[in-house]
Amino acid sequence: MKAVAIQAFGGPEGLAIIDLPDPSPAAGQALIAVEAIGVGGVDVLIRSGAVAAYGFQAGHVPGSEIAGTVTAVGDGVDASWLGRRAWGFTGLGGGYAERAVVDADTLVSLPEGLSAADAVTLGTSGVVAEHALRHAHFTRGESVLVRGAAGGIGIVTIQLAAREGAGAVAVTTSSAERGERLRELGATHVLDRAGRADGADADDAPAGYDVIIDIIAGAELPSFFAALNPNGRMVAVGAVAGPPPADFGMELFTAFQRSMSFATFSTNTVPQAARTTTTADLFAAATRGELRSVVHELLPLDQAVLAHQKMDAGEVLGRVVLVPAGG
Ligand SMILES: NC(=O)c1ccc[n+]([C@@H]2O[C@H](COP(=O)([O-])OP(=O)(O)OC[C@H]3O[C@@H](n4cnc5c(N)ncnc54)[C@H](OP(=O)(O)O)[C@@H]3O)[C@@H](O)[C@H]2O)c1
Repeated sequence: MKAVAIQAFGGPEGLAIIDLPDPSPAAGQALIAVEAIGVGGVDVLIRSGAVAAYGFQAGHVPGSEIAGTVTAVGDGVDASWLGRRAWGFTGLGGGYAERAVVDADTLVSLPEGLSAADAVTLGTSGVVAEHALRHAHFTRGESVLVRGAAGGIGIVTIQLAAREGAGAVAVTTSSAERGERLRELGATHVLDRAGRADGADADDAPAGYDVIIDIIAGAELPSFFAALNPNGRMVAVGAVAGPPPADFGMELFTAFQRSMSFATFSTNTVPQAARTTTTADLFAAATRGELRSVVHELLPLDQAVLAHQKMDAGEVLGRVVLVPAGG
């Protein structure tokens, strides 16, 4: 089968098409004939070599979320999965391929009306968004800021917060054009990356936020933390701009009398069964028109280099999806 491997860590040109034997599912696994592969930020991070210390070797096949048809199952896996279209999570790699194995307990059936591309756009991001809002104890009527809203996680977070009755859903993004796209999904106020608003948004943006879902971290994290209301909760789900300043902890203590909270959140702490249920619920919501997937572009698997160039250039709104030939 065809697959895409990282032959040299660094730029996108280090990705190359290779031939590999078809994988076969071990006990507890399922083999998927892949129709769609979500290109994630973590794939880019691994390819760049930034996380080489975790033991990734040249020849690593990236790709953690795929959808397609289950064609074989290992021992102990319910045989009724055979022939069914499903979304699955490979872990940290193996997805950029015509066929890939996943742990069968990650499988989620694709409901009628949900494409494989929609599934890999909503799957992982949806679980992060839903459980991050729960981790923040978000309740109806509260004001929410989604920092770094134009990525997969932000796009679902905006929609869930709006659907669940947020009083306001402000977003940060780098362009007015993106801001308009995010308003269509439920954003009420558009801020620039530094948190500044223009025009009408400047007049009526909330003075503070009850909940901030932060995908960015980096040097600006303290200034966003300071925008919480008393009793407000900031949940960091990503670090697209790197870690916060070393003295960030001082910010918490400086604001002691406002009882604000800061938390990190990773789906690693959500039991697999709960993740699967959430994904199935979000897929069902998408088929009812209550949740939109934003597929930036479909590209053939053999154009993985181009997909990564677009990611590196910051051009992607939502998800780039790779499609194997015949997928
Ligand atoms: N918590 C979990 O369980 C979990 C699971 C999966 C992934 N993650 C993490 O989530 C992050 C990726 O999420 P994603 O795919 O939704 O995000 P993303 O697409 O990588 O980034 C979101 C947006 O952030 C903005 N941005 C980029 N660089 C920025 C910078 N230096 N400063 C400010 N804004 C910047 C960009 O939008 P604009 O250009 O419009 O500003 C971008 O579209 C990674 O850190 C990943 O490790 C966490």
